[in-house]
Amino acid sequence: MNAPPEPFTSAVRLRVVRHEPAAQGVTLIELEPDDGQPLRPFRAGAHLALELNAGVRQYSLCNGPAETVRYRLAVRLEADGRGGSREVCEDLQAGSTLNASGPFNHFPLEEDDPCPLLIAGGIGITPLLAMAREREAQGRAFELHYSGRSQAGMAFHEELSGRGDGQVFCYADGVRMDLEQVIPSPSARHLYVCGPARLIDAVLAVARGKGWSDAQVHFERFGAEAPAALDGDGAFEVQIKSSGEVIAVGAEESVADALQRHGLYINLSCGSGVCGSCRLGVLDGDVDHRDYFFSPQEQAANDQFTPCCSRARSARLVLDL
Ligand code: FES
Repeated sequence: MNAPPEPFTSAVRLRVVRHEPAAQGVTLIELEPDDGQPLRPFRAGAHLALELNAGVRQYSLCNGPAETVRYRLAVRLEADGRGGSREVCEDLQAGSTLNASGPFNHFPLEEDDPCPLLIAGGIGITPLLAMAREREAQGRAFELHYSGRSQAGMAFHEELSGRGDGQVFCYADGVRMDLEQVIPSPSARHLYVCGPARLIDAVLAVARGKGWSDAQVHFERFGAEAPAALDGDGAFEVQIKSSGEVIAVGAEESVADALQRHGLYINLSCGSGVCGSCRLGVLDGDVDHRDYFFSPQEQAANDQFTPCCSRARSARLVLDL
């Protein structure tokens, strides 16, 4: 299940205290509260939402929850991105300050898991490294598989590949991770995957093929293209429960656009159904879910949706606003 709305939506001022290369194309950034206050507590899998000039961008924390002094991020420079990673990697420096909200956690470890199976691709290592550290701090087992194109581009590769404790496996430079081998038959374990979309899709396909239930498989995508309008997308209405106002949503616009056109604030971040920051409650109507955030069970519950990308199958949705 995704976590309920978290309390840390107000911004905190953070200062960059470390900014240095972590691997080819990856920058390690450490941030401390600018007012000297302790960190807001977090669990493995959490992310911070940084307020950048390019907009709000979310980055997973890679330190464990025992950390009380600084947040640690590793950010890959996306040459073709929307400017957020370039700002973090190239414009920020030690001493820079910025606002952030969170930490938020939509990707937590299940408490009753005897040995979580963690699968990371590339910079997807960040939340899974935090998970490994959390389990390690608890003296509990985990199994981490970390794959990348080359060692040189894999943050934390040296630290992880040198452990030799049988809990961490690294694959790079032509050594491929064989998902059929890595993913066993289902048991009481849970599987967590973060990385490029093709890795996540491959892990989901293998896990489902072996009989893992959706409730045991957890994934976090970095981002996605905003879903394109589909042929046959039509207009519909949304009704605001508190005021009764009915707002028309055109075939070519998102629900978020229509709501904002009517002066309603929507907490948009990724704009593509990945982060969940825009999610709203649905009281009536049939949602056409197009997000990557909710699990299939949560989508089937039909009581929340992401207005940045999801639409309606019914003529009207009643929103809990
Ligand atoms: S803004 Fe990220 S899911 Fe809607």
